[in-house]
Amino acid sequence: MAIRNIREIGDEVLTKKCKAVTEMTPRIKELIEDMLETMYEANGVGLAAPQVGVLKRIVVIDTTGDDPHILINPRIVESSGEQTGQEGCLSVPGKSGQVTRPNYVKAVALDVNMNEFELEGTELLARAICHELDHLDGHLYVEKAEGPLQDVSYDEDDEE
Ligand code: NI
Repeated sequence: MAIRNIREIGDEVLTKKCKAVTEMTPRIKELIEDMLETMYEANGVGLAAPQVGVLKRIVVIDTTGDDPHILINPRIVESSGEQTGQEGCLSVPGKSGQVTRPNYVKAVALDVNMNEFELEGTELLARAICHELDHLDGHLYVEKAEGPLQDVSYDEDDEE
């Protein structure tokens, strides 16, 4: 496992649409392990493959610190409600912005064995799912932020 370099806003790789994963390979398994390690090291609650420079539809999410979700080719199949709150991104260091998201989402994705599963989430998990899936289509939360971004202090946690 290895910590990978996190790409930051302005890097073109963050604006590209990612390609679906068609088969699991040792290289992709290693990528997923590295993404988890990179996310935890950066104290993030989610990380998408393009943030480490790989244009594949893979995200990792962990909103609690001990409950990692690995989503391959994820898509949102249901959403409802609304939440408005501060959101951050490891690719936009030191900033946060107010973003409105659904309060509930259900996603369908493949796991590391390429078996389909569902992931339902509310509140922070719903927000993280939406945020990370946006990365796979080349979108950052800053495009959706209401008003100017805020500066956040270095030790504030839970950047996505
Ligand atoms: Ni992000």
